[in-house]
Amino acid sequence: NQDKFKQVIAHAKEYGYIFSSSEIYDGLSAVYDYGQNGAELKKNIKEYWWRSMVQLHEEIVGLDAAILMHPKTWKASGHVDAFNDPLIDNKDSKKRYRADVLIEDYCEKLEQKAQKEITKAKKRFGDDFDETQFVATHPRVVKYRAQQKEILQRMAKSLEAENLVDVKNLIEELEIACPESGSRNWTEVKQFNLMFGTKLGASADSASDLYLRPETAQGIFVNFANVLKTGRMKIPFGIAQIGKAFRNEIVARQFIFRQREFEQMEMQYFVRPGDELKWFEYWKEQRQKWHRSLGLGEENYRFHDHEKLAHYANAATDIEFNFPFGFKELEGIHSRTDFDLKAHEKMSGKKLQFFDPELNKNYVPFVIETSIGLDRMFLAVFATALQDEELADGSSRTVLKIPSILAPVKAAVFPLLKRDGLPEIAHEIVDQLKWDFNVAYDEKDAVGRRYRRQDAAGTPFCITVDHETKEDGCVTIRHRDSMEQKRVKIEELNSIIAKEVSF
Ligand code: GAP
Repeated sequence: NQDKFKQVIAHAKEYGYIFSSSEIYDGLSAVYDYGQNGAELKKNIKEYWWRSMVQLHEEIVGLDAAILMHPKTWKASGHVDAFNDPLIDNKDSKKRYRADVLIEDYCEKLEQKAQKEITKAKKRFGDDFDETQFVATHPRVVKYRAQQKEILQRMAKSLEAENLVDVKNLIEELEIACPESGSRNWTEVKQFNLMFGTKLGASADSASDLYLRPETAQGIFVNFANVLKTGRMKIPFGIAQIGKAFRNEIVARQFIFRQREFEQMEMQYFVRPGDELKWFEYWKEQRQKWHRSLGLGEENYRFHDHEKLAHYANAATDIEFNFPFGFKELEGIHSRTDFDLKAHEKMSGKKLQFFDPELNKNYVPFVIETSIGLDRMFLAVFATALQDEELADGSSRTVLKIPSILAPVKAAVFPLLKRDGLPEIAHEIVDQLKWDFNVAYDEKDAVGRRYRRQDAAGTPFCITVDHETKEDGCVTIRHRDSMEQKRVKIEELNSIIAKEVSF
């Protein structure tokens, strides 16, 4: 929904969540900065992930590897040779596109047609509507779905076989037009490597060519033996990491969904060969639970098992989220076999193995990976939280219902008036709360407007000091979501807030 998406982007800027990078120079495409509230929300999402991964799993430890790595890393991992996007230029508009995205967009349109039929039938049949039966039998829906499947399978097969001529043929057969000009005058398809290159020191020697890491996972693989030994780990065990990754994305759109600089939260779980599919299922379930615990709505998630597997994987699933532009990948769970560790063994000549005392032998462990984009999680939380509400008195408000445990500011403290000693008491309350929570002080405008401002910024609690406070030591606490107000003792504030925001 385009309007909702525009509202999300505008709201993120207005309330200090997200700015275009170097905006005073007109921004940098597909690069963003996180503002005062955005930095807090991001930090809280990281903390929520880290605690569930590292603190709650005895057998998982953390790591913080460097962004710059030895160039051989990327040769071994396959990124130098195979981390490519298939690009195609339109000869008339001189614009460049990802060929696979053009084809996927075409399929998305077919899906929209199918959805239209479903919605129409739902309206017509009301309560008697059986959606499963309908999509299995309705000729147009069956046709649209079959076409999508056939197109995507052919594309996957052609890309796998590096048959770029057939990818172009497919674009021509489907009569896909350039989105800007409508022209169908396409060039050949060419592969383009997504890694950002840089140089080590002043040397012009090609041996000092480096890359900014395109995923955090390789930092974990190259440290496998270090952590195994120094942490005295036993299989199964995991290594978790949060950090920046860089990709020279060509299709730079959808705000923070697809960026050139972004953060990943990845965990590699090392298991006994042969046990990997059992652990794959385990991690699918664990990650589903983590998402569910945030309450963003079951209906906003969907699992999508991969038909086409990456060269290193023997099972893979995407957790897709219903973003304002439709269901798209939020997290990947991959069974990566022993591909990475074996490749690094070969490239480095070092043994990357575990001695299993139960089996009395050495082996290269298999790996289950969970990989979620922090910025995409941020967008999922933010876009779902942003709501326009009609109120009982006929007025409306914009409210950001961010789960309280993730909210940037937990409480805002207001003196009813800027005199009579009320600001002093409000400041004392801020001093009392700030050791436990991120809190704000606000004395500008009428209280009603201050409430609206905090609602729109996502603050779960507002606390108002009035003249009676001086008599009874009580304040009014108002909750963002219910807008309910209660009179409570100042000493009770920390525990009332903690009950809702702690994890
Ligand atoms: N180590 C595996 C890996 O990197 P991936 O599917 O390429 O797998 C994992 O990326 C996650 O990283 C994705 O599910 C997505 O959430 C996030 N991600 C990937 N590219 C991104 C981009 N350009 N901008 C923002 N997030 C991105």
